[in-house]
Parts: sequence; structure tokens; C-alpha cells
Amino acid sequence: MHSYANREKLAQLFAKEVETFVAKHPNSKSLHDQAMGPLMGGVPMSWMAKWPGPHPVYVQSAKGSRFTDVDGIEYVDFCLGDTGAMVGHSPDAAIKAIAEQLDRGITFMLPTRDAAVVGQTLADRFGLPKWQFTLTATDANRHILRYARHVTGKSKVVVHDYCYHGTVDETFAVLDNNGKTVSRENNIGPQVDPAQTTIVVPFNDLVAAEAAFATGEVAALLIEPAMTNIGIVLPEPGYLEGLRELCTRYDVILIIDETHTLSEGPGGMTARRHLHPDAVVMGKTIGAGIPAGAFGMTAELTKRVQDSLHLEHIDVGGVGGTLAGNALSMAAIRATLTEVLTPEAFVSMEALCDVWTMDVQRLIDKYQAPWQVSQLGCRAEYSFRATAPKNGREAADADDFELQQYLHLHALNRGILMTPFHNMALMSPAHTKADVARHTAHFEEALQSLFA
Ligand SMILES: Cc1ncc(COP(=O)(O)O)c(C=O)c1O
Repeated sequence: MHSYANREKLAQLFAKEVETFVAKHPNSKSLHDQAMGPLMGGVPMSWMAKWPGPHPVYVQSAKGSRFTDVDGIEYVDFCLGDTGAMVGHSPDAAIKAIAEQLDRGITFMLPTRDAAVVGQTLADRFGLPKWQFTLTATDANRHILRYARHVTGKSKVVVHDYCYHGTVDETFAVLDNNGKTVSRENNIGPQVDPAQTTIVVPFNDLVAAEAAFATGEVAALLIEPAMTNIGIVLPEPGYLEGLRELCTRYDVILIIDETHTLSEGPGGMTARRHLHPDAVVMGKTIGAGIPAGAFGMTAELTKRVQDSLHLEHIDVGGVGGTLAGNALSMAAIRATLTEVLTPEAFVSMEALCDVWTMDVQRLIDKYQAPWQVSQLGCRAEYSFRATAPKNGREAADADDFELQQYLHLHALNRGILMTPFHNMALMSPAHTKADVARHTAHFEEALQSLFA
């Protein structure tokens, strides 16, 4: 049952937005026609087709909070490459360091001066002393899961219902209506049935987590400390602390994936909420968009890992990647963390997000839309349900693809890019009050069209 009942009206509103979109984007259309020849679905990666409207807009250039498409239209970007560009597009300090490193060599299989500085910066921010680097957050998750299984000698991973941690096989599982772990719908070609590798538990449910750990089979708990990939689902008081305690009791490695929750500050939710994970994972924005991922470990976990590895075989164990930790990534991370994603930048990003969120809430109230908005530092998202969801299933049940497509196309036609897979907005250090005001105006117009 959709929260917005008048589907006929919704279809008419959407059709009108499609007409506007088509009229405004002849150059994007022509590039898309050309791309339909050599590219599957006309896009370099399949999910790039999942934008509202008949084809994606093609980007000409981007800087800070904005980008311009090939038809000369300028947009405020609240999607920011789904966090890959949370620092804003091409920030000057990062671009300078990246350009300088490009001139000095890109990849060597040898470290450069940046490596230790980057490691120390992350250690100071997250409170975990030892770090390793990958090209993506997905890889960082895969690697730390391997280490967890390796050192505990146990095979299973516990994840939250409706989680997303990148393309990590073990995580494509959900709970069915009987509470059984099953493969998530549309899981593409799983190597093995995820029920063999994974136990799924609902977010905010300590009883379920303990029951999973009590099987004695669990090597690791991989979580986002607040869910961000099925809308935002916030932890209830005591939940994260309870998980910590259970992990210690059952020798389960607690891995906190901060790839998106980094929105809460320079040390993510880990530092801000005094969490004590055994490992932390991140990626996407830490290199200003240059591929970079990282994972940090406690001294104790590092010792367990190192004691179980032998230098002679270290290149063939399933943890690695030729380009991982390359000189360009490290230069990009160093400049991004120390000059762009500074503690001061997070303060202004969050303050602006407060404004975005208050405006959205005010308009939801004004038009009595049965929706709600949640905020996590510089990230905020509204969902099509009246109260904040407690877990992934509640959030998933509120999904309304057609309504979302309409709102996103409405935004796009008014010079605003929202994150395609949900109603999320992210503030970079470059965003301004005028950027937020543009979203507020669109949101009011859209609510009026639906509810007035
Ligand atoms: C929480 C979380 N972890 C990991 C990833 C994977 O990031 P990447 O696709 O850059 O490997 C994502 C991607 O959205 C994510 O949301």
C-alpha cells in the first residue's frame, strides 16, 4: 500500500516533468543515443541508468557544490556522487596535491612520504592505531571480513536486514517473513547461497544479535552505526553499546563501516559517539574522488592478524590489489583529510544540513504529508512514512519508486540533483544557503502539486 494514494495524478505529474526534461536536454539525448551503441544500457555502469527521465544528463564540468551539463544547465548537486564527492567537486587543495603527485608518478608498489601521515591522521581521528589501504570501501570490507574469519577460525558474518556495504557477497541477504536469512531479491549470481555465509538481524534488535552470536559460528559483525542505504535509520539509545558488549563476550570482530556515516564528523560516528569497534572501514570521499578506501584496526586485532600471516605468502592470500595504497591515492587522501575535510569544515556542513532538514520538516508539516526527515551530520533524508523507521524492513516498506522518480525529476528540472536511489541530500564544504534555498523552493512546489 503506497503512502500516496492518487496514482493517476502522480502518473500525470510525472509525464509532465518528462516532457519538460526532454525539451531541455537535446545534447544529453544525442550523447546517450551514441552511447547506446557500444555500452550495455548506454551507460558505463549499469546503475548509471537508474535516474528519473528517459536518459541520464551528461556532465560537462563541476566545481564545488555545482555542476553543468552538456546542455548548459547548472545544477546544485546534493547527490555528490553518492558521497564520492562529499568534499565538493574538485576542491582546490586536493586537486593541487593530486596534480603534483601525477607529475611525480602514480603507482610504484612502494610507499611514499604521504603513507605514514595519512595513517596517523586516521589513527588520531578514529582512535584505531593501525591502517591499511584499498581502492574502494567494498574492498576494505572484503579484506577485513577475511581477516576476521582468519583470526577467529569462524565462518559467518552477521549483518543488518537491508544493509548495504558495497558489492560484498556476504551482505546480500535479508530476513524473510519467517525471520530466516535468505538471499536478497535481485542478488545477481551469488557464489553460494548467502544463508551459508551470513546471519541477518534487524537493526536495533540486541536479542536477535545475541541469538546469532550464540550459534558460535560468527566471525564478524559488519554494521553501519546508523543505516544510510535504505533511508536513514538511527540507533536507539544503548543499541551500539550493547552490540560492543556482545561482540566482546562472543569473540566477534566488530566492524563499523563509516563510508557514509563519516557525515557525522572527522572521526565519523565512531569518534563522535565514543564507539569502540575492532575495525573501521571507509572509502569514497576520502581521496576527493580519486579511488581510495581504508580500514583501521585495534592493536589487538592487528597482532592477531600479523601473528597468523607469513611474509612469504602475503601476496596470495586474498587481501591486496596491485593498485591498493598507490601513491596517487595516498596523496589525495592526505590533502583531502588535512586540508578539505577538516573539523571546521564538518561544523559548517552540518549547520547547513540543519537548515535543509528544518526546511523539509516545516514543509512536510505545512502540507501534512505523511512523511518524515532524519539527519546524520551533513547527510539528511526524507522518507514516505510518518514516523522514523526503527529498522531496515520498516524503511524498505515505505519505499515508493514512482513517487521518488517524480520528486527527483521535479528537482532535476529545477536545477537540483538528488541521490538517485533514495531521498538523500549531502552538504559539502562548498554548499551555501542559496543552494539549500533552491531545494526548499522545489520541495514546496512538489508538495503543493501532490497535496494542495
Ligand atoms: C556503507 C557503505 N559501505 C561501502 C560501500 C561501498 O563503496 P564502494 O562502492 O565505493 O566500494 C558503500 C556504497 O554505497 C556504502 O554505502
